[in-house]
Amino acid sequence: MTFPVHRPRRLRRSEALRGFVRETRLSPAGFVYPMFACPGKSVRTEVSSMPGVFQQSADQIAEECREVAGLGIPAVILFGLPEKKDETGSESAFAQGAVQRSIEAIRKAKLDLLVITDVCLCEYTSHGHCGVVKDGVVLNDPTLEILAAAALSQARAGADIVAPSDMMDGRVAAIRRKLDENNFADVAILSYAAKYCSSFYGPFREAGQSAPQFGDRRSYQMDPANAREALREVALDLEEGADIIMVKPALPYLDIIQRVRERFDVPVAAYNVSGEYSMVKAAARNGWIDEKRVVLEILTGIQRAGASIVLTYHAKDAARWLKD
Ligand code: PBG
Repeated sequence: MTFPVHRPRRLRRSEALRGFVRETRLSPAGFVYPMFACPGKSVRTEVSSMPGVFQQSADQIAEECREVAGLGIPAVILFGLPEKKDETGSESAFAQGAVQRSIEAIRKAKLDLLVITDVCLCEYTSHGHCGVVKDGVVLNDPTLEILAAAALSQARAGADIVAPSDMMDGRVAAIRRKLDENNFADVAILSYAAKYCSSFYGPFREAGQSAPQFGDRRSYQMDPANAREALREVALDLEEGADIIMVKPALPYLDIIQRVRERFDVPVAAYNVSGEYSMVKAAARNGWIDEKRVVLEILTGIQRAGASIVLTYHAKDAARWLKD
């Protein structure tokens, strides 16, 4: 039996009814706010392609984190800019690096905030690749030790969760081993397990000053055409000890989020990346879209696909709007 007995519109008549039967309830409880830490003091420089996003010194990071925590956002993820780049990205493991100092500043401020750190070398290397380079090739195995050292220094500074984003094979195992050997068995690993070689990272590379100086990242990041390979990447990272896995970017890969969610019983995160953010900002500034409604629709879609954790530059705005 169908119409007139069944009338789906019956449950859409009022906001009370719509709210009552809503399947996905967007809340800031799964939001992660990405931030860019740079050297110095009292530095706060806006990223031109990402309005509202700043490169900031540790003191300013702690300041903004107070606001983030106040909005009910549970976590931040920190990216770091070095004083000086070199061939092997050695500053990634400096105890006095911008990320390490920012973690300490956040801890000192006693904020109720989870601190996640991105583990990667591209911001720290002179060539801008995520691993060490020899004869124009990004080497896998020699990169693992450097990544593990970076993760350890972040754990020492007080990170709750380390998040490798380099896409080298075996890095989750290398980081897990290093953390365990040094009594950081409780520090969790959020792995960027299915990270695609995407053009949506453009604005981030301005923010992180991390554009590759030659070639591209296709020899380590995933081919956008592949879905089954993502499941394999996730399975491998879980075997190596990942606690949370991530799909990145989010919007062109909602099918991947859904498949990963269905296949694996672990927390799934998605990264609503810089290019996705900048497109919304640009269109909103032109008056072409309603920013608030578009952002909440995007974040709902990512959650509905299966990501309970969403890394997004919209986190502060969205948390504010969800309160209204
Ligand atoms: C580092 C890294 C990147 C992003 C997160 N970690 C850039 C890249 O792989 O080139 C992108 C995040 C964003 O675009 O918001 N490897």
